[in-house]
Amino acid sequence: MKSTTPMYKLCVVLQSNLIYFRDAKLQYHRVNQAYKMLVQLTRPRKILYLPHHFSENLEDLLNHLPEDGQIVACVSSLEQHHLWKESSLEKKIHTKVGSIEDILKKLAASGEQYDMVFIDATEENPINYYNLIMNSNMLKMDGVICVQNVSANETGSQEHINDEIGLRSEEMTDVINVDTRVEQVALPVKGVIVTKRLPVSHINDTMKGVADDDVFRGFKGRSILDRLRLDGKVAYVTGGGQGIGRAFAHALGEAGAKVAVIDMVLEKAEAVANELGLKGIHSVAMTADISKEEDVKRVVDTIVANWKKIDIACNNAGINMNSASEDTTLEEWDKTFSVNLRGLFMCCQAAGRIMLSQGYGKIINTASMASLIVPHPQKQLAYNTSKAGVVKLTQTLGTEWIDRGVRVNCISPGIVDTPLIHSEALKPLVTRWLADIPAGRLAQVTDLQAAVVYLASEASDYMTGHNLVIEGGQSLW
Ligand SMILES: NC(=O)c1ccc[n+]([C@@H]2O[C@H](COP(=O)([O-])OP(=O)(O)OC[C@H]3O[C@@H](n4cnc5c(N)ncnc54)[C@H](O)[C@@H]3O)[C@@H](O)[C@H]2O)c1
Repeated sequence: MKSTTPMYKLCVVLQSNLIYFRDAKLQYHRVNQAYKMLVQLTRPRKILYLPHHFSENLEDLLNHLPEDGQIVACVSSLEQHHLWKESSLEKKIHTKVGSIEDILKKLAASGEQYDMVFIDATEENPINYYNLIMNSNMLKMDGVICVQNVSANETGSQEHINDEIGLRSEEMTDVINVDTRVEQVALPVKGVIVTKRLPVSHINDTMKGVADDDVFRGFKGRSILDRLRLDGKVAYVTGGGQGIGRAFAHALGEAGAKVAVIDMVLEKAEAVANELGLKGIHSVAMTADISKEEDVKRVVDTIVANWKKIDIACNNAGINMNSASEDTTLEEWDKTFSVNLRGLFMCCQAAGRIMLSQGYGKIINTASMASLIVPHPQKQLAYNTSKAGVVKLTQTLGTEWIDRGVRVNCISPGIVDTPLIHSEALKPLVTRWLADIPAGRLAQVTDLQAAVVYLASEASDYMTGHNLVIEGGQSLW
């Protein structure tokens, strides 16, 4: 691993020297495994694949790419297309036929960038390919280059390769070794080097005019996507057993947080906690009626007892009972307020006390577009009023607590497409609602997930008391 003059990217070098090995089949398998693992670890979306001789490893890579992933494969003749032709993987692969160097120049000219690049060091011009890719910024920030069939000596082997191909691969190794823009590691798989672009750790003389500040380096040295990560954070989500709360729990967990899924119905909370567990997210299911003070206290105390802190409090549970205002009973009014506003306040206060003592915390309340407009034609006075209360409570706590490290914000979804509104009774309303939504569709729970991660992350530390409205423009018409 090299750590001199870090400038741009990281480069990993795997050594697969298949052609020089007696147990080629085993080596081949190891290389494939290494590639698969790299793809899983780095999760590339766009791969540039240059080796002339395609093999099953390309098919394996395709299998591990996300659905919208893409491999641009450069081949000298279309015959090499056979492995994936007419398979379901074909849509992920774009084949470019012709001289590799010409193809690379065209891709560079059109500003194409890749998360991962594969080069074979035994090809005719591997150094030219490498230089072209690095010099024209075809490798994205944090991108990875896998160079295969590099010199066997790179992995400590005593073998000497004196033929032309061997010399070429040694030259390739030397070029990568002295390239200060990349960090590299030779994996103990023969003949493959993987390189990754390094972050900038200091400004040197070659970077004249570059501002040495947080914008250039990233705040605290972290890129914007890193700053959205929630690794090591402890979160809870009330009403996490279904709908929006379930989507929030998944989003926070995917971003790295441990998640306590809290719901009035234990089976629902358990089902979601189980889903999170299947994805490798640390989670726990808890039952509570958030309109009851003792339940709120119990869940907050239990989370702190088990996980020592609460960083993210997602107060999402809410109910809506429709009735015309002249018919709204005090019972309906009280019930709505006891969950939507009184219950939410108790959660804010219990979690807020912990966060104030920690000196840091993020509270994210679920309000509603109904806090801003009067959704129609359905009648829901108590609901609308309770959600307007959530916004004012959020603004008040947000300003009162920010100087002690606790940020309080809320999310106001528009009308979310849940099974509830697919009922026969509500179907006619959907047409009315759609006519009021500039986006032309209802919200999906997945439309709300990035917002909760942003508000939970340090990237939003300067935001407090904010009502983040996500309604496809409906409140503007
Ligand atoms: N669905 C929408 O169109 C929409 C739009 C704007 C805002 N909202 C708000 O988003 C939040 C979630 O809505 P949803 O559509 O996912 O609702 P949902 O009814 O699908 O799910 C709510 C969950 O909260 C749980 N819950 C209800 N009362 C509770 C209580 N007292 N204690 C603990 N858990 C309780 C329920 O068991 C359920 O699992 C609510 O605050 C709602 O007002 C929803």
